[in-house]
Amino acid sequence: MRGKFITLEGMDGAGKSTHIPDIIKLLESKGVEVTSTREPGGTALGEQLRVLLLNEAMHPETETLLMFAARREHIAKVIEPALARGAWVLSDRFTDATYAYQSGGRGVSATKVIELESWVQADLQPDLTLLFDVPVSVSVERLASARAPDKFERESSEFFTKIRNAYLDRAKNNPNRFRIVNSNQALDDVKLEVKKIILTV
Ligand code: TYD
Repeated sequence: MRGKFITLEGMDGAGKSTHIPDIIKLLESKGVEVTSTREPGGTALGEQLRVLLLNEAMHPETETLLMFAARREHIAKVIEPALARGAWVLSDRFTDATYAYQSGGRGVSATKVIELESWVQADLQPDLTLLFDVPVSVSVERLASARAPDKFERESSEFFTKIRNAYLDRAKNNPNRFRIVNSNQALDDVKLEVKKIILTV
């Protein structure tokens, strides 16, 4: 049987990555094989593209095209083979991030993103997307005390406001696969919310 595809999304500083080890354990306790991966990245080539994407200034459409180039490789080499053999794939970000950052944040036309999405993904879509949501002020405060920021993490509150709104729009328009996790509460409470969601898939 084909595996399920779960993605984690949210603004920088929303704290999604903290939950990955717990989610893997929960899924494994259901007896499934888990392939944990991330975007941009997930393959040797994708990780090289990630270094460029997170460090080099570039035209917003170049950024979009490179995100999808890394994604094409990721789908072909990692995501599809895993799902086909019945493994569940957990990806730290996927195409919703391109809608949020490149379209919402940088202003690339959504029509162009839709075209690239259908070219690169055909009908591949996540079965479940957890959107870790926090107010922009909280995310900006968390980023200020974090390690050396990358290109995206150095952006302004205005940029993060656009990202958050674009993510919330995605969730509203895709209610069947999105679950919004309130990340603006004590970590144990966030963990409980995540656990409830994961145990119902
Ligand atoms: P992130 O997932 O936050 O990794 P880390 O936790 O190691 O900082 O970093 C990836 C960055 O890439 C993040 O700022 C969002 C950005 N990104 C896009 O702009 N578009 C995309 O399509 C993807 C997948 C990521």
